[in-house]
Amino acid sequence: MKYNKKELLKTKVEHLDIKKFNSVPLIDSFDKMAFQSRNLARACKIYDEMLHNKDCTNILCLAGSLVSAGLKKVIIDLIKHNMIDCIVSTGAIVVDQDFFEGLGFNHYRGFINADDNQLRELMIDRIYDTFIDEEDLRFCDVTTKKIADSMKPGAYSSRQFIIKMGEYLDKNGKADSFVYEAYKKEIPIFCPAFSDSSAGFGLVFHQTEKKENSIAIDSVKDFRELTEIKVNAKDTGLLMIGGGIPKNFVQDTVVAADILGISAPMHKYAIQLTVADERDGALSGSTLKEANSWGKVDSGLEQMVYAEATLTLPLLASYAYHKGSWKSRKEKRLNKIFSK
Ligand SMILES: NC(=O)c1ccc[n+]([C@@H]2O[C@H](COP(=O)([O-])OP(=O)(O)OC[C@H]3O[C@@H](n4cnc5c(N)ncnc54)[C@H](O)[C@@H]3O)[C@@H](O)[C@H]2O)c1
Repeated sequence: MKYNKKELLKTKVEHLDIKKFNSVPLIDSFDKMAFQSRNLARACKIYDEMLHNKDCTNILCLAGSLVSAGLKKVIIDLIKHNMIDCIVSTGAIVVDQDFFEGLGFNHYRGFINADDNQLRELMIDRIYDTFIDEEDLRFCDVTTKKIADSMKPGAYSSRQFIIKMGEYLDKNGKADSFVYEAYKKEIPIFCPAFSDSSAGFGLVFHQTEKKENSIAIDSVKDFRELTEIKVNAKDTGLLMIGGGIPKNFVQDTVVAADILGISAPMHKYAIQLTVADERDGALSGSTLKEANSWGKVDSGLEQMVYAEATLTLPLLASYAYHKGSWKSRKEKRLNKIFSK
């Protein structure tokens, strides 16, 4: 069946609101069951403890396609209600999905049995059952170039560049964005593989045009800054969605501190919501118990939950929101520890 572009890009993905339902009774029932329901209940209780512990810096790690799937508002609510202090993410979530929506573009509900040849001809990209207008994404690429062009030549951490994206949205934003919410609350966002996203296209264009007068993203600076956050915190807790580069980058700060001769404790709390399992020996599915052997995650308050995040994250975030432990937390505004 042939469709035109307008017919395919008609129904927007809507972002779920954790304030509209209370998952506490469901999670309490899950706690009395078995398998992943009980694992999720334990993860919820650990997250509540992280929020209760006033000395804990909570770091949210994001991988996968969470914003395009309708989880943007969940992340915004975690930021607005002071439930996280720092974010480590893939570039796709920060740039291609969140910043993209902040510019006023949308993700659309599509279908998995689409004719992908026809989609390509229409310049429509597909993520499983969602559609994106490639022409809108090109605007996003060019916007990151525009931001880079406006910066003084030199090397910047992704955190510094993402602050500039927040400033851009402050003047030109057209819709909700967690990059913008984090900017207002001075919450650092790191993307260790920043160029592996829409920003990469913009930065290639920028460096090709500006040559020696260009900017560069310094991933070592990212690692130094994230390690500084780790060593300045008394306790740290990780809420990891998916796995991938953000999971390893944040865990490695304990080892980086050790190399610098600074004694930093292992991450005290760690939760991972993922579909990856440990059989292939890769990082994404490696258990948090295993991370203890590397000296990265403390044992006792860690929990893996093996299920897809569009199902588990709303339940966990709604539980934390309705439990209300965030109400007595102080804002950390960690961007302030850096000069810029
Ligand atoms: N996801 C995209 O559409 C997209 C688009 C452009 C660029 N990229 C880039 O590709 C790189 C890797 O991307 P990635 O983070 O999408 O994949 P990834 O394969 O690195 O994901 C990491 C792990 O998270 C798990 N995971 C992902 N989504 C999940 C979910 N909804 N629920 C539970 N577990 C989940 C995966 O199984 C995997 O084990 C990044 O640098 C990113 O910027 C991704």
